Amino acid sequence: FDHCFKKLDDGYLYCEGTRVEDVMEVVERRPFYLYSKPQITRNVEAYKDALEGLNSIIGYAIKANNNLKILEHLRMLGCGAVLVSGNELRLAIHAGFDPKKCIFNGNGKLLEDLVLAAQKGVFVNIDSEFDLDNIVEAARIAGKKVNVLLRINPDVDPQVHPYVATGNKNSKFGIRNEKLEWFLDAVKAHPNELKLVGAHCHLGSTITKVDIFRDAAQIMVKYIDQIRAEGFELHYLNIGGGLGIDYYHTGAVLPTPKDLIDTVRDLVLSRNLNLIIEPGRSLIANTCCFVNRVTGVKTNGTKNFVVIDGSMAELIRPSLYDAYQHIELISPTPPDTEVSRFDVVGPVCESADFLGKDRELPTPSRGTGLVVHDAGAYCMSMASTYNLKMRPAEYWVEEDGSVSKIRHPESFEDHLKFFKDL
Ligand code: LLP
Repeated sequence: FDHCFKKLDDGYLYCEGTRVEDVMEVVERRPFYLYSKPQITRNVEAYKDALEGLNSIIGYAIKANNNLKILEHLRMLGCGAVLVSGNELRLAIHAGFDPKKCIFNGNGKLLEDLVLAAQKGVFVNIDSEFDLDNIVEAARIAGKKVNVLLRINPDVDPQVHPYVATGNKNSKFGIRNEKLEWFLDAVKAHPNELKLVGAHCHLGSTITKVDIFRDAAQIMVKYIDQIRAEGFELHYLNIGGGLGIDYYHTGAVLPTPKDLIDTVRDLVLSRNLNLIIEPGRSLIANTCCFVNRVTGVKTNGTKNFVVIDGSMAELIRPSLYDAYQHIELISPTPPDTEVSRFDVVGPVCESADFLGKDRELPTPSRGTGLVVHDAGAYCMSMASTYNLKMRPAEYWVEEDGSVSKIRHPESFEDHLKFFKDL
């Protein structure tokens, strides 16, 4: 993927044709998230092109970013949605997603949410014995037969941070193949409630080798052969999400959606399957920067710090996963500016509050703009109000270069609402 945020010859950072500094001047509050709408479109088109010639569903993983405007745009581009909670399901319906392109997923789905899923006719993944019981019960309550997929752990190592690995044999998600026969019998025992239509796996997130997906798909089609041999008419292979992106901005060549789809294409065609994919990060991460101002610079012991207005409250990935997200200043510095190594930190009261460690940067003056790149996925959606840093606004740059607000910032008054009339 190309980077849609680029420094041009004048030394300023641009989002498409728009100077980030200019956006910073007009927004009501900082820090904020700034997206490129054209880049979202380009990312979806890359997947669509990659999927040419296959029957497929792009199920966007809403957990990555649940901005309603972004969801509506993705829906308009033809995406379906992957949901992991009742509210994500409600939001997908609100945003107008076609239920036939939606998949309800998760290891702790609640009965009431499954009833809604059954009523709306979305696909539901079976994750465990009790989950199957709940889906059967929900089907009865809704008076609808549910199209189900079995989530199976292929036990392929995704080679990622343990917090974002999900398809291994000791994972809390999905079922192990030893139990496959039990689940097939249980589905057969409920012909009025369940229709088994496919198999699902999700290996993990930030995966940067497509061989991993091929290995998993090979294992999955064997299960599909086995399930079909038992008389089920399976139509769908769902290989989950997980494709990584170029967080390091080193120019390294990473697998594209086309590389991913090409490694599984023959397998999918050989079994006459429809392919479901569940990308989150690779659709939305690179479309956004988290935009801050430098509050000040300080030195303690051997460490230099750039203190910015954003923090782990708005963007927790570095603190939580030791994740690297590229950081740069958005405007040119005078040629004689000293370059040093800085920890880029926020104002939150704990030492876990950093956005980047040991980053080489020209010493910024107070008020300089600074961005954290690739902040479209799992940043705003994981933001908290810790230290009462209320959640920030979101904007996007449109195709014509104009900037629109796509989410209001949370306010202090919003917080007080939780205590009203108590
Ligand atoms: N499908 C399932 C079943 C998932 O659990 C996930 C992500 C996805 C699809 C989308 O995966 P993606 O294409 O975005 O990698 N908060 C972490 C990532 C957690 C991912 C959880 N599951 C982070 O910030 O890195």
